[in-house]
Parts: sequence; structure tokens; C-alpha cells
Amino acid sequence: MDLLDNDIKLFLESVKNRSNYDFSNYSPSSLKRRVSKLLSDNHMEMAELTEKMSEDRKFIEKVVKSITVNTTELFRDPKVWIDLKENIIPRYKSKEKISVWHTGSSTGQEVFSMMILLREMNLLEKADIYASDINTDVLEISKTGTYKYSFNRDYLKNFDEVFNPNSSDKLNVPYSKYFIIDNLQDKLKMKEFLVEKPTYQKIDLVRDENLFNIKFDLILCRNVIIYFNYELQNKVFNLFYNNLNDDGCLILGLHESIIGPYSGYFEKKSYAYFKK
Ligand SMILES: C[S@@+](CC[C@H](N)C(=O)[O-])C[C@H]1O[C@@H](n2cnc3c(N)ncnc32)[C@H](O)[C@@H]1O
Repeated sequence: MDLLDNDIKLFLESVKNRSNYDFSNYSPSSLKRRVSKLLSDNHMEMAELTEKMSEDRKFIEKVVKSITVNTTELFRDPKVWIDLKENIIPRYKSKEKISVWHTGSSTGQEVFSMMILLREMNLLEKADIYASDINTDVLEISKTGTYKYSFNRDYLKNFDEVFNPNSSDKLNVPYSKYFIIDNLQDKLKMKEFLVEKPTYQKIDLVRDENLFNIKFDLILCRNVIIYFNYELQNKVFNLFYNNLNDDGCLILGLHESIIGPYSGYFEKKSYAYFKK
């Protein structure tokens, strides 16, 4: 379904007027794709959709959840995790505490990747891990640490790239140290010591502040700002700048970067933006 700019305007106004959400500063192309899919999945025209949103608050929550893109992977972009292991995290290893905030953490594979990496570096015990997303459904999945094995099997090669680059038969770091794979039940279940570690909070980067009320050494906001326009990107760079420790750094997605006024406030070294 080809949506007109006017349809999207109607949709955005309707969400904004009837909820606390505001997608006006999302980039239009992906928004159009998601709203089109929402309409076709619900067999609705825009007028019906906005009417249903005005009658049913729960439906707005459903709409918001279907607008967000939640794709994620274990150790997504292994070269970033290798950089974290070799160059970025070692800077913080002598600190008493290491605080990490995953924003837009989706179903949590990024959060578990970080905890596994920190454990391999003997730093997990002194790390505080925080994770947030606008979508509470994905946070609930993250809290269980249980995934469909078939959806995650392909990403075990990312794990191997980070921890087992040269091993063939016997893995240096066996998967069973961190998760149990049940092929029959199609489950991948993270070990309890990882599942119970993070603190979760619903945080909407459009309207909320840092609701954890602490400062961070590392903020990961990966593959989230790609959906935001310039104005909203700058708003979140401001939020991250103000909530990083003086030597802290921000990690973005591989195809994301800091542009505009905030580029002067950070120094990019390999995959990290360090606060200046
Ligand atoms: C593509 S996923 C990225 C997951 C993970 N960071 C990664 O790189 O694999 C984007 C996530 O950003 C979340 N998101 C979108 N808009 C948001 C907002 N305004 N505030 C917080 N999270 C948001 C989505 O719900 C989704 O879970």
C-alpha cells in the first residue's frame, strides 16, 4: 500500500493527540513502511486506524509496538565487539564500578553479549548493566533470556568470531558456559547468573530523560537513531553526552554516526565516540 504524506501526517497527529508518544521526528521512509504494514496486517484504511486509536488506548500501545523495528543479534557486528574487548572496555577495567546503559535494547541479545564479554574479561561482577526500550514487549522477552534457537543459531558464528576465531573442534569459550541450547524444543536459554543481572526500564528516547539516574561509562545506542531525523538525533546525543562519565563513551550502530553540533563534543576512536 502506497501511503501519502497526508496519511502519515494524520497518523502522527492521531498518535500524538491520543497518547504520550510522538513519532513526528522519526525518518519518514521507515515510518511509511511500518504504517503500511500495520494497515495491511489489520485490513484497515487510515481513517479506520485513526478512529480505532481514538476509541481504544490499548490499541495505541499495540500500534506503537508494531511501529518499532526490533531486529537484533547476539554479538551483532563482531568487529565492534572485538574492539570493545581489545580497546574500549580495558580503559575502564581499573574502575571500582563499570556502568553500562543499553538504549533501544530490544529483546536483549546485545545486553547478553555485553555481559558475556565482561565475564570473559573478569569484569562482570563489578559491572552494573541497565537496559531500556520504548517497547515493553521486547523488554519482557529480554527479562526471560529465552529465545527461539532457530532465530539465533546463525548468530553463533558472531560469538565464535569474537571468542573462538581459531578453534575448530573444541571451542575456547564453549556456548554452554553462558547458554543452554535445546534443539528439540527450539530454545536457547541464557544462564540464570546473566538473566538476573540487568536492571530494565521502559524509556522512550523521544520524551524521557535518563530514568536510571546514574552516569555511565558506556552507552550503547545501536541501530536506533537510524530511524530518527536530524533533530531527534541531536536531542539524544545531548541526552547521552549529559549522562556519560567524563571518560565515558557512546557506541552507535555500524551505519550510524554523530553529525551536527555534537560531533565536536565527542572524539571518535575506532567504533567508540569518547566524550571530550
Ligand atoms: C533495531 S532495534 C536495535 C536493537 C539493538 N540495539 C541492536 O543493535 O541489535 C531498535 C530498537 O529501538 C527501539 N526504539 C525505537 N524507538 C525508540 C525510542 N523512541 N525510545 C527507545 N527505544 C526505541 C525499538 O523498540 C527497538 O527495540
